[in-house]
Amino acid sequence: MKIGIFDSGLGGLLMMRAITAALDQYDYVYLGDTAYLPYGARLNELIYERTQKCIDWLMREQNCVLVIIACNTATIAALRQIQQEWLPAHFPDRRVLGIVVPTLECAVGAKNIGLIGTTATVASKVYEEELRKITPNAKIKSVATPLLVPLIENNGDKYARAILSDYLAPLDDVETLILGCTHYPIYNDLIRELMPHTNIISQDEILPLKLINYLSRHPEIECRLTQNSSQAFYVTDSTQGYINTANKLFDKNVIINKIII
Ligand code: DGL
Repeated sequence: MKIGIFDSGLGGLLMMRAITAALDQYDYVYLGDTAYLPYGARLNELIYERTQKCIDWLMREQNCVLVIIACNTATIAALRQIQQEWLPAHFPDRRVLGIVVPTLECAVGAKNIGLIGTTATVASKVYEEELRKITPNAKIKSVATPLLVPLIENNGDKYARAILSDYLAPLDDVETLILGCTHYPIYNDLIRELMPHTNIISQDEILPLKLINYLSRHPEIECRLTQNSSQAFYVTDSTQGYINTANKLFDKNVIINKIII
C-alpha cells in the first residue's frame, strides 16, 4: 500500500519532493486538486468536500493506507471531520494526517511567533487555537498573504521581492516565522534574506522528520507500506506552466496524469 500526498497544487509537490528525498523506499501518489486552486480563497464547505473526495480517490483507487494533507488550508477546513467522521465510516484501518500541529510543535519555545498563510488559514484562527493548547503563553501575529499562491502557480517570481517585503513588514519583530502554506518554501531563500534574524519554519524542512517519527511510532501502518520506490503524480487540471515547474522541481520529466474527481 502507498502513501498519498494531497494539496491543492504546487505546495504538495514541494512536500512530495522533500518527503521522497528523505524516505525514498516507499511508494507515493501525489494528488493536486488544481482544478479548484486556490483553496485559500474558497469557502470551508467546498474545501471540505474537495478534500474528502480527493482522499477517497487516493484510498479507493490508489490503495493509500496513509494520506498526508500537505495543505494548511485543507487541514484546517477538513482534517478534524475527516478523522472523526468520514474515515471511521469508510476506511477505519487507514490514516489521514494534517500539517498544522506538526508545524506548531516546531515553534515551541518561541514567545512571539509570526504566521503567514492563505486568507482562509489566517481567518480560521486555527493556528492560534492549537498554539494555546501546546504552549499557552506564546502569541501569534498572523498576516494573510493571498497574492503568493497565484504568484507561485503562475511563475510570478520577479514580483516576489516587492510583495513579500510589504507582507513581512508588520512581522519584523517576531522571533519565529511560520510559513503556513505549503507553497511558500519556494520563497524560503528570499524570506530568509528579508528576515535574517528570524527563525523561519518551513514545512518542507519539518514534514519529512515528522513522518519518520510517525512511522516509527506506528508500526501497524508502516508494515503495510510497500517499498518499490515508485512515485506517481495526478492533478485535476494542468497547464504547461505547471508541468514546467514540476519538471524543474524534480529535475526530470515528471509524468503528470490528469484525472476527473
Ligand atoms: N498550499 C496550500 C496551503 O498550504 C494553499 C494553496 C491554495 O490556496 O490553494 O494552505
